[in-house]
Amino acid sequence: MKRIGVLTSGGDSPGMNAAVRAVVREAIYQNLEVYGIFHGYSGLISGNIEKMELGSVGDIIHRGGTILYSARCEEFKTEEGQRKGVEQLKKFGIEGLVVIGGDGSYRGAQMLTKSGFPTICLPGTIDNDIPGTDYTIGFDTALNTVIDAIDKIRDTATSHERTYIIEVMGRNAGDIALWSGLAGGAETILIPEQEFMMEDIVNRLKRGHDRGKKHSIIVVAEGVGSGVDIASQVKEATGYETRVSVLGYIQRGGSPTAFDRVLASRLGAKAVQMLINGSEGRAVGIQRNRLVDHDISEVLAKPHEIDIDMYQLSKELSI
Ligand code: F6P
Repeated sequence: MKRIGVLTSGGDSPGMNAAVRAVVREAIYQNLEVYGIFHGYSGLISGNIEKMELGSVGDIIHRGGTILYSARCEEFKTEEGQRKGVEQLKKFGIEGLVVIGGDGSYRGAQMLTKSGFPTICLPGTIDNDIPGTDYTIGFDTALNTVIDAIDKIRDTATSHERTYIIEVMGRNAGDIALWSGLAGGAETILIPEQEFMMEDIVNRLKRGHDRGKKHSIIVVAEGVGSGVDIASQVKEATGYETRVSVLGYIQRGGSPTAFDRVLASRLGAKAVQMLINGSEGRAVGIQRNRLVDHDISEVLAKPHEIDIDMYQLSKELSI
């Protein structure tokens, strides 16, 4: 293995740059040539590929986003698109690839593996919804963005004695909502993995109101539904003044936390070492603070599981 490539794909996440930096620096340290593939799989298909040097990844470890850009690519879901991609890799003499992204990106990597091209995946998404790893790159930073917002909203919620519904990202996973809701002291957390009854939410709000609570915070994962709809249902059922904040894309940016920078650096270097050692079709992760790797297909076949004990704890601590 003398020449490898790296790309970022899908929704970007803080820490992707740290991962790209680790892949480039570890590859050069191991005397490999390393090529950046720009704009994810669509850049792979179009040959948007450039050789990377040590300086190519200077001064980016603290920056959100990805210097390799990212994209969602329908064409790469087709056999023709995958064939074009492999053709480009071979044209540049690239012998192995590191893919940094979420589940959609893993499916592309699975296709590359099936076509015989050595590929290693890193979990780069704020959603924390990739099986085989306790944390994905960007999740911790997104959490800290959300709890900063919750703390700020709590101030105005108290001043005006309002009930706030805060909608957070997570596509179909409730991890951002659960962890930020617990950390932010939310009264109620709604996640797609757990059914809920509006009646229970209303009773919990009324219990708090009756014991003198000045405000309530409800954190809703986007996979559950619209925060605006939840707010109007709460208003109708309780008569309480409600407001909504849909946090949206601020959760995808910002300078990565130390945790995400270290996680990205460890996983990025590990992916390079695995390619050198002949591994392929593997997904790198961290479990109980140890670096692990799993077959990409096994990861994609497993359902994402949320920590139900934490969900129960969040309900107990916000009685
Ligand atoms: O997968 C990361 C994510 O931010 C999800 O949480 C969100 O639902 C989705 O990407 C948004 O996708 P897009 O950036 O294509 O609008």
